[in-house]
Amino acid sequence: MPEQIKLYYKNVSSEIIGSQDGISPEQFKSLAEKTAPIIAELNNQRKSGKIPYRDLPYNQQMPVKIKDVAAQFKGRCDNFVVLGIGGSALGNIALQTALNPYMYNIDDNQRSGPRLFVFDNVDPLQLESFLKWVENKLDRTVFNVISKSGQTAETAAQMMVISKMLLDKLGPNGLKNQLIATTDAKHGTLRKIADKLGLVTLEVPDGVGGRFSVLSAVGLLSAEICGIDIDALLAGASDMDKRVSDGDFYKNPAAINAAINYHYYNHGKRNSVMMSYSYALKDFSDWYRQLWAESLGKAKDLNGNEVHIGPTPIKALGATDQHSQVQLYREGPNDKLFTFLQVEDFGANLQIGPAPEDAPELAYLAGAEMAKLLNSEKTATEYALLKDKRPCLTVLLPKINAYTIGQFIYLFEVTTSFAGALFNINTYDQPAVELGKEATFALMGRQGYEKIAQEIEQFTGFDKEYLV
Ligand code: PA5
Repeated sequence: MPEQIKLYYKNVSSEIIGSQDGISPEQFKSLAEKTAPIIAELNNQRKSGKIPYRDLPYNQQMPVKIKDVAAQFKGRCDNFVVLGIGGSALGNIALQTALNPYMYNIDDNQRSGPRLFVFDNVDPLQLESFLKWVENKLDRTVFNVISKSGQTAETAAQMMVISKMLLDKLGPNGLKNQLIATTDAKHGTLRKIADKLGLVTLEVPDGVGGRFSVLSAVGLLSAEICGIDIDALLAGASDMDKRVSDGDFYKNPAAINAAINYHYYNHGKRNSVMMSYSYALKDFSDWYRQLWAESLGKAKDLNGNEVHIGPTPIKALGATDQHSQVQLYREGPNDKLFTFLQVEDFGANLQIGPAPEDAPELAYLAGAEMAKLLNSEKTATEYALLKDKRPCLTVLLPKINAYTIGQFIYLFEVTTSFAGALFNINTYDQPAVELGKEATFALMGRQGYEKIAQEIEQFTGFDKEYLV
């Protein structure tokens, strides 16, 4: 039996946390009745090509092309640098943290490909420090600029800084040889630039939004080049696809997950905390945050009604945040649904050493497995939350590997589609992000944005009267 990840949901039931905060059997039944038709609806939409991310695990050509490009560049780079933001970066970061060792970039013995850096910001201090380090290593450094549109100011600015550096240090051939573009197959600014420069390119598939694109060339090139088994990732996703397409609500983990989240949003628990008890999975909480927030935070429903809907995703890391957030989580407002990520077998047999002679109170730790301590902390935190009637879900991963991570990605992508359908909103657009992008264009003096520049004048600068 292949390793399957599971969703455990008993700890949201009224049997465990009481009828005020828990879901009663009748409520669960009515959630099943509401969600079951949505399973069929999404399956149909998917069959008619309306949800293209669902078919990424079955694209035969894509992994061949990715492996081809990776093979072309792998031997000649020690550093692989992703330039992108949002959906063009978060999946790359999450895959790397999950599937490569913690010291991958630092310890040559622990890496099976180039070092990986992902720049998803335009902080001058951060970038300057990197540029100082990389400037004399450019011939062994490959940059992958990822942008569907090519218009995103942050990514475009990074690309322009790097292009100048490559041109100055290595000349036009250096620029051509060290830069890969991942972008729209035909349209957009980056496609135009890449074709003009003759860059090697990979495609962001049509109709796949950034936050649903990790299982395309967007997330898979850096994974492949850094030694991650992308076939296993896609196999995990396609195995999960079978489970989340199941018309039987009670067997469908994405439908159940979405229905529970939907229920709690409508019952005053509008915050959704993803708390990973695994460092390797911590950046998937960041990835989930974008997926959930951009997909479900919407002003209008599909009928045009103003709804201003959307659960707030919050990331947390166990055990670290037990000493930072759990006081609030237990005694603060009971307005959160918790989703723990738990790993059964870490594949690391790290034992705690003997207790110091004069500290017999630490003897209970001596010789214990570190994994047992971490998982005990998860159980202990969950127990404490349940005592205070806080609903808890757990995603249980038997192991962390490419196959289980592929399942995890697909589970949460499809959960998001189900949740969007339950909320009756457009899951796949992000109109509110656009105004901020346009305002940035205006503030940076881009032609055609003068009207916005005028409009935002009253908000820019600091009125001294209010500066204390
Ligand atoms: O999910 C999304 O669509 C966004 O987060 C985009 O990925 C992000 O804004 C970057 O856009 P682009 O790929 O066009 O540079």
